[in-house]
Amino acid sequence: MAHSLPSCVSSGSPNGEALCVCCLPGVRALRLCVAVDGSTLAALPRHFPAAQLRLSSLSSCSLTHEHPVGLSGTKLGCGEGGCGACTVMFSKYDRLQNKIVHFPANACLAPICSLHHVAVTTVEGIGSTRTRLHPVQERIAKSHGSQCGFCTPGIVMSMYTLLRNQPEPTMEEIEDALQGNLCRCTGYRPILQGFRTFARDGGCCGGKGNDPNCCMNQKKDHTVTLSPSLFNPEEFMPLDPTQEPIFPPELLRLKDAPQKQLHFEGERVTWIQASTLKELLDLKAQHPEATLVVGNMEIGIEMKFKNKLFPLIVCPAWIPELNSVEHGEEGISFGASCPLSCVEKTLLDAVAQLPTHKTEVFRGVLEQLRWFSGKQLKSVASIGGNVITASPISDLNPVFMASGAKLTMVSRGTRRTIRMDHTFFPGYRKTLLGPEEILLAIEIPYSREGEFFSSFKQSSGREDYVAKVTSGMRVLFKPGTTQIEELVLCYGGMADRTISALKTTRKQLSKFWNEELLQDVCAGLAEELQLAPDAPGGMIEFRRTLTLSFFFKFYLTVLQKLGKVDSEDKCGKLDPTFASATLLFQKDPPTNVQLFQEVPKGQSEEDMVGRPLPHLGASMQACGEAMYCDDIPRYQNELSLRLVTSTRAHAKIKSIDTSEAQKVPGFVCFLSADDVSGSNKTGFFNDETVFANDEVTCVGHIIGAVVTDTPEHAQRAAQAVKITYEDLPAIITIEDAIKHNSFYGSELKIEKGDLQKGFAEADNIVSGEFYIGGQEHFYLETHCAIAVPKGEAGEMELFVSTQNTTKTQAFVAKVLGVPANRILIRVKRLGGGFGGKEIRSTLVSTAVAVGAYKTGCPVRCMLDRDEDMLITGGRHPFLARYKVGFMKTGRIVALEVDHYSNAGNTLDLSEAIMQQTLLHMDNGYKIPNIRGTGWLCKTNLPSNTAFRGFGRPQGMLIAEHWMSEIAVTCGLPAEEVRRKNMYKEGDLTHFNQKLEGFTLTRCWDECLASSQYHARKSEIDKFNKENCWKKRGLCIVPTKFGVSFTVHFLNQAGALIHVYTDGSVLLTHGGTEMGQGLHTKMVQVASRALKIPTSKIYISETSTNTVPNTSPTAASVSTDLNGQAVYEACQTILKRLEPFKRKNPSGSWEDWVIAAYQDAVSLSATGFYKAPDVGYSFETNSGNPFNYFSYGVACSEVEIDCLTGDHKNLRTDIVMDVGSSLNPAIDIGQVEGAFVQGLGLFTLEELQYSPEGSLYTRGPSTYKIPTFDSIPIEFRVSLLRDSPNKKAIYASKAVGEPPLFLAASVFFAIKDAIRAARAQHKDYDMKELFRLDSPATQEKIRNACVDKFTTLCVTGVPENCKAWSLRV
Ligand SMILES: Cc1cc2nc3c(=O)[nH]c(=O)nc-3n(C[C@H](O)[C@H](O)[C@H](O)COP(=O)(O)OP(=O)(O)OC[C@H]3O[C@@H](n4cnc5c(N)ncnc54)[C@H](O)[C@@H]3O)c2cc1C
Ligand code: FES
Ligand code: FES
Repeated sequence: MAHSLPSCVSSGSPNGEALCVCCLPGVRALRLCVAVDGSTLAALPRHFPAAQLRLSSLSSCSLTHEHPVGLSGTKLGCGEGGCGACTVMFSKYDRLQNKIVHFPANACLAPICSLHHVAVTTVEGIGSTRTRLHPVQERIAKSHGSQCGFCTPGIVMSMYTLLRNQPEPTMEEIEDALQGNLCRCTGYRPILQGFRTFARDGGCCGGKGNDPNCCMNQKKDHTVTLSPSLFNPEEFMPLDPTQEPIFPPELLRLKDAPQKQLHFEGERVTWIQASTLKELLDLKAQHPEATLVVGNMEIGIEMKFKNKLFPLIVCPAWIPELNSVEHGEEGISFGASCPLSCVEKTLLDAVAQLPTHKTEVFRGVLEQLRWFSGKQLKSVASIGGNVITASPISDLNPVFMASGAKLTMVSRGTRRTIRMDHTFFPGYRKTLLGPEEILLAIEIPYSREGEFFSSFKQSSGREDYVAKVTSGMRVLFKPGTTQIEELVLCYGGMADRTISALKTTRKQLSKFWNEELLQDVCAGLAEELQLAPDAPGGMIEFRRTLTLSFFFKFYLTVLQKLGKVDSEDKCGKLDPTFASATLLFQKDPPTNVQLFQEVPKGQSEEDMVGRPLPHLGASMQACGEAMYCDDIPRYQNELSLRLVTSTRAHAKIKSIDTSEAQKVPGFVCFLSADDVSGSNKTGFFNDETVFANDEVTCVGHIIGAVVTDTPEHAQRAAQAVKITYEDLPAIITIEDAIKHNSFYGSELKIEKGDLQKGFAEADNIVSGEFYIGGQEHFYLETHCAIAVPKGEAGEMELFVSTQNTTKTQAFVAKVLGVPANRILIRVKRLGGGFGGKEIRSTLVSTAVAVGAYKTGCPVRCMLDRDEDMLITGGRHPFLARYKVGFMKTGRIVALEVDHYSNAGNTLDLSEAIMQQTLLHMDNGYKIPNIRGTGWLCKTNLPSNTAFRGFGRPQGMLIAEHWMSEIAVTCGLPAEEVRRKNMYKEGDLTHFNQKLEGFTLTRCWDECLASSQYHARKSEIDKFNKENCWKKRGLCIVPTKFGVSFTVHFLNQAGALIHVYTDGSVLLTHGGTEMGQGLHTKMVQVASRALKIPTSKIYISETSTNTVPNTSPTAASVSTDLNGQAVYEACQTILKRLEPFKRKNPSGSWEDWVIAAYQDAVSLSATGFYKAPDVGYSFETNSGNPFNYFSYGVACSEVEIDCLTGDHKNLRTDIVMDVGSSLNPAIDIGQVEGAFVQGLGLFTLEELQYSPEGSLYTRGPSTYKIPTFDSIPIEFRVSLLRDSPNKKAIYASKAVGEPPLFLAASVFFAIKDAIRAARAQHKDYDMKELFRLDSPATQEKIRNACVDKFTTLCVTGVPENCKAWSLRV
């Protein structure tokens, strides 16, 4: 490992040596003893900045500048415990269990000081491409589970830790282990499939050939060979647990050493690790203001994101009394420091061993813990920490309160035990704990005969740990009756603290458990649990309804349990169609099938085109060796930059005061518009500033930046900059913009046919409004840039995480006032881009360039996740107003749609995006008379920008929305109406492009057949009849995706090839690698063109000094354009080698190369390509905007819980036309990844803004992207066979963006299920249209399933009441 250690310290023995920092020179009286990857020292100097308390400092290369550790494999994705990118394994000797324990943890929140005697294993510690990959690393790489790779080290470490504890896990254990990890690229399926090979219940797809649809049965085909597997598990190294690194003997030797108090002093924080209860209580008596920290999950967040300082921290994690577990007479008592994983394990054991009636409460706690973030959190977060945090949305406190859990609190000389009830939380984040008291233990009670308990949690997604509403409910019946003796209903998320619905429950005493009680409790809860229309968290009606839904579920559950022992007349009859309402949400084991066409028989073994070659960076990514921008080692004199941004949406800047910032240690300078040596004007249309001049136009507008010695000091200094504003009127929403006529330019329009005539002919006309929310890119690697001044002639080298080297170069040159030839932009790889790094990356790169220019030093900036989300914009929200005319048969005759996008405070790419929306407003349908208009709303939000699909998903979703309304209005099956209106080969689109090679109908028919659509539709109808509160829906949706940049000249690309005399080839092209496998495909193309193995070809990076004037890596065309340019360059080389081949036909590649060299023939060549015949005029509606179209169809089935709004994606079938696939593994990866990102867009991800235009959703805790659990349980992807595309390299087709829209099938399947729920009302009109905007979140689903509970919770909004959040 290439870690540099202080010279006085040996790197330890290979089997793991722990070194104590007290042996470091200049460090006095320290006892911190940590082993990192067995042989590496983690050093803590005597004085350390507060932020360096976190272990994530390891991933940012150094604990201190003097003592670099240099472990960059562990990634920092969010810094708040929500993404798992920083997962490492901790191992320690557990004195209570008397054994070594291993557990996963998030490095970003782990305090270094808490790691005394702990061995830390990072991804670098388990395997390497230079020696041997660990089987976990090998399998994720070879099963195509790593695209951009930024999530991969964390996922590897979660899996590795599981295997250390359980070498033969079940699939369920694997899924649990990965619950705390996010991936934005892969769509999770390949990761699960790769890891399935470790599972004892693995197997190919679970079907094992028994199911007629199993891949095993689809293998045989008369005309082509279909391959069922993208990798061969037989190639995998076996897992050999005996080969794992041992626990460092030095640490083991310390296992019996007495634990003494530890004391560390930081720059602003003192950390004391108490070793006995007495010590702890003495410390608390002396310093009542001291903060206890156990897992740091709460305090860590407060320090990082709320800028709170805790000068004195006392850690009680070692104290035996606080870690004990005691099985008592009345319940099980847990010491307050017990991690939640220990609580979970203990309760699981108890449930297995004790009689059922005793474990009602335990099962309630376990149900909450099931959805409690990932293993990383549960392994370190304490039960006491959860209680004392007193979060109003704690999952456990309602359960503890409802169960009457006992809390023991002690201080020096006092001890008291109380039952947790409604008085325990006297206010927001307050408890009854006195200043000198600590929580010693919590006893969770056994339940009694006749006592029933349930718990509920509803959050944005099933694996979302931040609850909207949580609840614990308990009822005790009088012996032998169903008459209530005690009823306690406690809720989180309904007030500023955990509450008990006392008014309602008190009235129920002595009543019977029947329908009357149900009605009464529901009416009572609706009355008692009110929320103000502007209550924080919003979703007022949803949250109120949930309180009733939960009770209803509890009511039914109890009824069901009673029914097992009591006769019906005693407890009332449970309607059999209600039974499924009580079923707890279950994770089902995923199954999947991927079908693709194998290469033709006879294709040379060396020709890798068409084969599932793994991503070339995958192994390095899995080992943590792949270098991302921020992994570049720090320069000696490097400085850190932190942006200072506006907190106002629209305001004049009155003053900027940096005096406090200047006092922060390491402060170097503050940058403002005055420091820009060239032009401060920047942006795609010159309408942006590097630093705001005197006015800000959105929250997050960059005003300036501080430059300091370390990132931690930069953060402190930036927070210390004081800005005063004079507010100006702000426009936040699309409606505001329409009202104030606030648009960029005039409207865009496409018109064809005679609209008036069309509407006049129509049998029916439907009009309405439809809204699609925006989306955050959430690339796992946030924006990052390093500017390195070269010291002469204005030269500067920048390493940037960007999709657009050319614009980065141009913007930096302009800002510095130097010619472009002085600016070199280099990009190795991106940890995801999705369009977010096409233009917005220049926000950071121009700022660091100004900093480097001013200071003469290298300057680095990597945005924190919250800054990134705040500043850089995302997908445009859209509002559509439409009118569609159609015949009784469902045939469309006229369509008019006005599209409004929220463009934000600058134009950026909004116009081009709207153009694509208009060009895709037909999706796959022929519309004879049509008019589409588009307005770009100028608002005071951060500028929205490119995002995978680039306006097309919005246009197509609107199309499918009115299409579904046509079907309902006509009373016809939706799939029939869609098919009827679908284009045919040779048709002209509304923009007059002829459709040639139109494969959409083939995709449609294949998908309809392979998904067994019609048979399943009948099954779903049956299911819906039999289940009142769970409904299923099914929908099939097509996509037609035009491929090309709309700006004509961007459809060009360049490549550069150097052949060296050993025969190795260095290839460069204009595209950047961001996980999509572009470099892999380019190597495949060059390998076929040159007829040499891929192993001889290497791509190092993308840079402006190798291929100039490149187009951004965007629009899905990078393979088409760069591939053709690479091909051209190869042809030049081949032509030059031709004479030498002729001379020596039996020679090798190396022979010809060396011969050419010796004959003084150039072995370096460029290639250039421009796409022909592309160019369209909006004025004349003529010309071809696209080179060709990609097509696909998806059919999805969902199940919704009508009471909570939860939904499960049961199955998705996709048929995608990718032409002749260059690499089926990468193409299927793109299909699945895009689909899952679309799933997020249409069903999950919701940005929330305050009425003042400030983004609330700034991290994974508040913004939910799909997780492992979100993907369809059955996921079948097949690539359309025999569909070569003559318009792109080797007959392939673009694939990056087109499949994203197919997730609309899930959206409309949900709508279908909601319709079934609404149809239960007796006065339901079969042709009723109802509105469901995108995304179809739980809130929207629940609210749309109108029933007796929603009606009780209708909440009036007084005029002038500002809701907590706005639809922008
Ligand atoms: C990513 C993430 C996911 C989360 N998911 C959930 C979730 O699903 N559900 C949920 O309810 N919460 C969740 N939380 C909140 C948090 O993790 C829990 O509240 C956790 O149990 C806190 O424990 P800790 O040991 O980390 O607390 P710490 O941060 O160490 O301490 C929390 C508070 O408790 C005090 N404290 C700790 N021990 C004692 C003691 N013995 N006596 C007195 N005071 C004490 C501390 O002083 C501090 O004020 C999540 C947090 C994060 C960061
Ligand atoms: S970086 Fe630690 S969990 Fe995201
Ligand atoms: S591969 Fe998982 S985030 Fe990119």
